[in-house]
Amino acid sequence: SQKWVLMVTAQTPTNIAVIKYWGKRDENLILAINDSISVTLDPAHLCTTTTVAVSPAFNQDRMWLNGKEISLSGGRYQNCLREIRARANDVEDEKKGIKITKKDWENLHVHVASYNNFPTAAGLASSAAGFACLVYSLAKLMNVQEDNGKLSAIARQGSGSACRSLYGGFVKWVMGKEQNGSDSIAVPLVDEKHWDELVIIIAVVCSRQKETSSTSGMRETVETSALIEHRAKEVVPKRIIQMEEAIQKCDFATFTHLTCADSNQFHAVCLDTSPPIFYMNAHLIGKIISCVEKWNRSEGTPQVAYTFDAGPNAVLIARNRTSAALLLQRLLFHFPPNSETDLNSYVIGDKSLME
Ligand code: PMV
Repeated sequence: SQKWVLMVTAQTPTNIAVIKYWGKRDENLILAINDSISVTLDPAHLCTTTTVAVSPAFNQDRMWLNGKEISLSGGRYQNCLREIRARANDVEDEKKGIKITKKDWENLHVHVASYNNFPTAAGLASSAAGFACLVYSLAKLMNVQEDNGKLSAIARQGSGSACRSLYGGFVKWVMGKEQNGSDSIAVPLVDEKHWDELVIIIAVVCSRQKETSSTSGMRETVETSALIEHRAKEVVPKRIIQMEEAIQKCDFATFTHLTCADSNQFHAVCLDTSPPIFYMNAHLIGKIISCVEKWNRSEGTPQVAYTFDAGPNAVLIARNRTSAALLLQRLLFHFPPNSETDLNSYVIGDKSLME
């Protein structure tokens, strides 16, 4: 019969890089020029919820993002759909009397509805949560028998940073050596319980969409920056080793030093791009950085790390609850929320701080 619909819903949090990915060596497969490390956020705060459905009544693949239909014709969506479909298996739902064979999947179409509970494309890595969730939910729907590492390599073809959202805690995206990208996968470093003292605060300085997409930004940086090669070959490999050690030991001073330095260097290579890319152009961001730097220096030991992605939102990682509470007081004191700012919108790790 043409009546049945089979659905799967999944939820995937976004992740924030502390050692940044910036620059591709292969644009179609999305292969990076350096390893990167991120922390996956608590799904309660910033996540994508995706429902995928299959029915013989659907005559084409379709997708809705935040309630609006979007085109699936782009290469990134097509790569993910193709890779998952190629691994589909038999699915049986006895209660509903549904039986789909491996072969059937070639002719069946899916409908996808996806929601972000945070601003899309404002540098909050919405594509990371989005593609990770799309790949994961499709894999469940189609009974794909692959581990998260393999699924991460598929999500990577949707958006590079998405591969890191398949795991919780701290995650490394290994750039890999293979030309076909088979070893360019995410690996979990430590789970979310390992360093649970950390409190992550995201200050939404501006929720407008970013002006330069990460894809064109990276391409322009790789083509024109004199610093990017030095960063990818000399700086990041050392930082990756040091960062892994800092995470293992919960060494906040080293963690802060590396996180802030890497964010600043990422924005330095953006500025070194021709024409230059300014992701940190909001006046407020400079103020937040100096405020944090001053505070860390005056305390003797760092209290807060900052990192900024390709959009004007500050990610602040406090060493514990006490510093998070102090940070919120300071931020609100110096930068009271107004029509242009929506500070301390998301506090991850300890909700009671917001009350
Ligand atoms: O995955 P993309 O194409 O959205 O690129 C993300 C790049 C940064 O967020 C700036 C850094 C990173 O490693 O997540």
